[in-house]
Amino acid sequence: MSAEPLEIHLEEQDLARGLRDDVRVGLTADPKWLPPKWFYDARGSELFEEITRLPEYYPTRAERAVLAARAPAVAELTRAKTLIELGSGSSEKTRLLLDALTRRGGLGTFVPLDVSASALLGSTTQIAADYPGLRVRGIVGDFTRHLDRLPTGGRRLVLFLGGTIGNLLPAERAAFLTGMRAALEAGDWLLIGTDLVKDPSIIVPAYDDAAGVTAEFNRNVLRVVNRELGGDFDPAAFTHVARWDATHEWIEMRLRADRPMRVRIADLDLDVTFAAGEELRTEVSAKFRPEGVAAELAAAGFVHRAFWTDPDALFGVTLARAA
Ligand code: SAH
Ligand code: TRP
Repeated sequence: MSAEPLEIHLEEQDLARGLRDDVRVGLTADPKWLPPKWFYDARGSELFEEITRLPEYYPTRAERAVLAARAPAVAELTRAKTLIELGSGSSEKTRLLLDALTRRGGLGTFVPLDVSASALLGSTTQIAADYPGLRVRGIVGDFTRHLDRLPTGGRRLVLFLGGTIGNLLPAERAAFLTGMRAALEAGDWLLIGTDLVKDPSIIVPAYDDAAGVTAEFNRNVLRVVNRELGGDFDPAAFTHVARWDATHEWIEMRLRADRPMRVRIADLDLDVTFAAGEELRTEVSAKFRPEGVAAELAAAGFVHRAFWTDPDALFGVTLARAA
């Protein structure tokens, strides 16, 4: 079967409005911040794929190792008929689950959801070609807003891989999990990938690689603002900063102004000034402890079913069931 046309829940104008609101609020706040979903235009999605192949970026390889070992168990336990993936990106690791579920029999539909239409177009085309007989329905949407638009019925398994749940702040994370539970029926399944707390000397380089790909990715958000809102950021005048916050146990990504700057965002009729050394927060990436993941899932109405890690215990994958 060829992939169905993408189902669009985020039109260009929704994206534009969301970006305008976020940029106005974030760049007039003190300290300044921008939310992470705006990294992922076509170029941002490509840069992220490049990050996943960096020697320093262990999460993708570690999560792949867990899925390679455990996908048959996930298929056996869930016997999913519909596989939904949030923040699906290229859905490359997802193939391990598609393989196991197809082999087990009964999987009918794959539904990847992402804000990035370009990433979805690529993944749905390739997966439809490689899995004949599988219905592939890509959804352009926002997992913080559109969980009520997911297909219903038929023993669902929802994947949230890549540690992307760690890019939500704690309150957003709780709202996400509660919303996720509300969108599911008792007996449906959730499989979440979380990067684990470990020595910062391993974590920090994953977000500050020697080749500077993560720095480019971070600065890409400024290019998005320039292009979409008529901004005149000079991305080269911002230094990428990745800092371990031991209290929150998260990595914080920032862009530091190298010199004093005045930035004009024409479409918002907004002038923003940066002092030399001022930092703009662009992303957090929380790291988890197994008992923390279990507690957050329980609080949202899920029953913990399994927790697996790779041989080096870098990354955790948790399987839970809607109670
Ligand atoms: N799951 C893939 C990609 C992780 S990167 C992996 O494990 O490698 C995070 C992905 O989430 C990107 O594809 C990005 O476009 C998407 N994303 C980020 N914020 C989102 C949001 N609010 N709603 C939907 N997708 C989002
Ligand atoms: N979900 C990924 C993570 O937290 C996203 C990511 C990787 C990222 N590297 C990044 C986001 C650099 C912003 C900047 O690991």
